[in-house]
Amino acid sequence: METQKLWGGRFTNPINSALEQLNASIQIDKRMYSEDINGSKAYCRILILCKLLSEEEGNLICEGLDQIETEWQENRFVIKDNDEDIHTANERRLTELIGDIGAKLHTGRSRNDQVNTDMRLWLRSALSALEQLLKELVKIMVDRSYEELGTILPGYTHLQRAQPVRWSHFLLSHAWNFKSDADKLRNIYKITNVMPLGSGALAGNPFCIDRIKLAQDLGFETITQNSMQAVGDRDFIAEFLFWSSLTGIHLSRLAEDLIIFSTKEFNFIEISDSFSTGSSLMPQKKNADSLELIRGIAGSLFGHCSSLMMTLKALPSTYNKDLQNDKEIMFSAFDKLVSVLNVICGTIKTLKVNSAKCRNALSFDMLATDLAYYLVRRGVSFRNAHHDAGKVVATAEKRNICISDLTLKELQSINEKFQVDVEDVWNYETSIEQYQTIGGTSRNSVIAQLDILRNWLSEHYIPTKNS
Ligand code: ARG
Repeated sequence: METQKLWGGRFTNPINSALEQLNASIQIDKRMYSEDINGSKAYCRILILCKLLSEEEGNLICEGLDQIETEWQENRFVIKDNDEDIHTANERRLTELIGDIGAKLHTGRSRNDQVNTDMRLWLRSALSALEQLLKELVKIMVDRSYEELGTILPGYTHLQRAQPVRWSHFLLSHAWNFKSDADKLRNIYKITNVMPLGSGALAGNPFCIDRIKLAQDLGFETITQNSMQAVGDRDFIAEFLFWSSLTGIHLSRLAEDLIIFSTKEFNFIEISDSFSTGSSLMPQKKNADSLELIRGIAGSLFGHCSSLMMTLKALPSTYNKDLQNDKEIMFSAFDKLVSVLNVICGTIKTLKVNSAKCRNALSFDMLATDLAYYLVRRGVSFRNAHHDAGKVVATAEKRNICISDLTLKELQSINEKFQVDVEDVWNYETSIEQYQTIGGTSRNSVIAQLDILRNWLSEHYIPTKNS
């Protein structure tokens, strides 16, 4: 008895049912039904040009494919037992609808070049969606930063209080990472936008199809140049997964900062109720679950990246079935990022900044560097100025007072360059405003950042589906 599989010609015994289950990817790759159909329609048009299909046959195939697409869209497509993957399912349905002519569509094509093409088509739209979401996030951060320019708070290194900064400067420090993530998508888009179709199973296409025309039809910028390389290439997915992982890490660092800031100990911000949850036991609790989920998912995004890398490691040339896992990983990374980006957008948009608490958390010891700069501006070398400011800190600590409470005499006994105007050092706003250089925390420098980011927001690199 011949098996019902599309590849069943040389088989006599049916496939083992456990293997059949393991082998089937339809429940995952059906997500690419539209890409598979578009790729097939373009391939059909090329077969007409090569006279491998007559116009009528080609039209019948394209109409059949359109009908199949509608069935998928309307959730009417019936998956049958032998539908291994989206490619076999669509082809099986096509021959059901239009008869033997449908069986001509696969002429010279293999699922090996087909699946790679489908994934690239799918990823192109996915990258465009991610660019939009990142831009939305940066816009929310830019808008907040503009509104809250006047809010100042301690900046930290090693999680120790370091120097006063603007809240906007802090927020934008994360926004710049997301801008860079969005910019990097351009390169991933470029390497994704290369067409492998026409590579066949591994040796190429024997019917002299015009691959360049086919690529133009499908909107690919260029085509692969070696069929063996093309069918085994998953670099575009690896790049995407590394990118997802790094973007996840950027999100996790923002989430961690905000979790710390939202604790009662800090109390700099309050996460809105809509983005928090409570405790089933402790009635007073309000947990920043949104941010914790984001922090946690960064770990699984890295897992996705390493999972594909391990699949690719030492894989023999061209196509091997190990590669079938790639789609589950790619879809999952995309889905996780989309949900995380939606949640972070809402969390940032709705959180409240407690600017009084932020300001009250500042203390004059955070201006010890400014004391050193005071001396530098009066000709003392920075090393010596740093040393003397350190002595001021130590003296104040010993006397258990604030550094701003040392008398001028005491200061002068450490360095005689201290004068009455040293009083002016104890001012957070002046301290912040001295950082006028590009990239600093002064008002003008932050406004300059905002201008750059705003211009960037209006630029657009990755074509959207309809553009
Ligand atoms: N479902 C397969 C995959 O996703 C399609 C390619 C199958 N190719 C083959 N020679 N069995 O990788």
